[in-house]
Amino acid sequence: MAYFIEAKKLVKIYERGSEKLRALDGVSFCIDKGDIAAVVGESGSGKTTLVNILGCLDNPSVGELIIDGRRIFADGVKLPEAELTRVRREIFGYIFQKFFLIPTLSVAENILLPGVFRPELKIPQAELDGIMDMLGILKRKDHLPKELSGGEMQRVAIARALAGRPKVLIADEPTGNLDSRRSDEIKDLFVRLNKERGITIILVTHNPELAKIGSRVIELSDGKIKNKF
Ligand SMILES: Nc1ncnc2c1ncn2[C@@H]1O[C@H](COP(=O)(O)OP(=O)(O)O)[C@@H](O)[C@H]1O
Ligand SMILES: [Mg+2]
Repeated sequence: MAYFIEAKKLVKIYERGSEKLRALDGVSFCIDKGDIAAVVGESGSGKTTLVNILGCLDNPSVGELIIDGRRIFADGVKLPEAELTRVRREIFGYIFQKFFLIPTLSVAENILLPGVFRPELKIPQAELDGIMDMLGILKRKDHLPKELSGGEMQRVAIARALAGRPKVLIADEPTGNLDSRRSDEIKDLFVRLNKERGITIILVTHNPELAKIGSRVIELSDGKIKNKF
């Protein structure tokens, strides 16, 4: 059976003037539907570069990416931009270390943002309330981001990703700005989203406790896979 996501010999070269940096150097692996894939490795090892490519936010210099049977990138050729946009919106939800909430919008309005770009989502009030309730931020729905704690802001960012009904959540160091109790809450939440909603999760983390929830672990070192299991 075909895998949901297949990365084949991904190479990413960043060029700065005459300098060339191989941030990814022949990275191959597969992710199944329903996996939690933990991407670990030292700072600068290429984790963010890798997940940005997996999430179709950036393209590899060389190599192939296949998602759900579709060839997204193949040796320098990529899907047309309009189709890439659709893949980004319909397959992925993104969660970053910096939460990127819009400061002038309320919690509920921030969460509803995916619906602004995709009117066909028509996020019903009950779904919105359900997501906020699950994340423990229902009482905060009319608050502005600046009135929230770091853990709450991250949960709003997760809620916003969920409002787009993603098949895959990509989280780049989601607990990087949180203390250990808040990190544990986020960890439990990811496990629940995976178990109860079947969401595939790709998780970059420095936190060994969080990496433990991975059904697959991809360890990078200097742009290469050091270990995978
Ligand atoms: N846009 C960029 N331009 C040039 N170099 C970059 C860029 N993004 C990342 N790098 C370099 O690529 C390497 C891998 O970076 P990154 O993927 O951010 O690693 P990690 O997320 O594991 O810390 C680092 O040496 C970094 O400095
Ligand atoms: Mg990074």
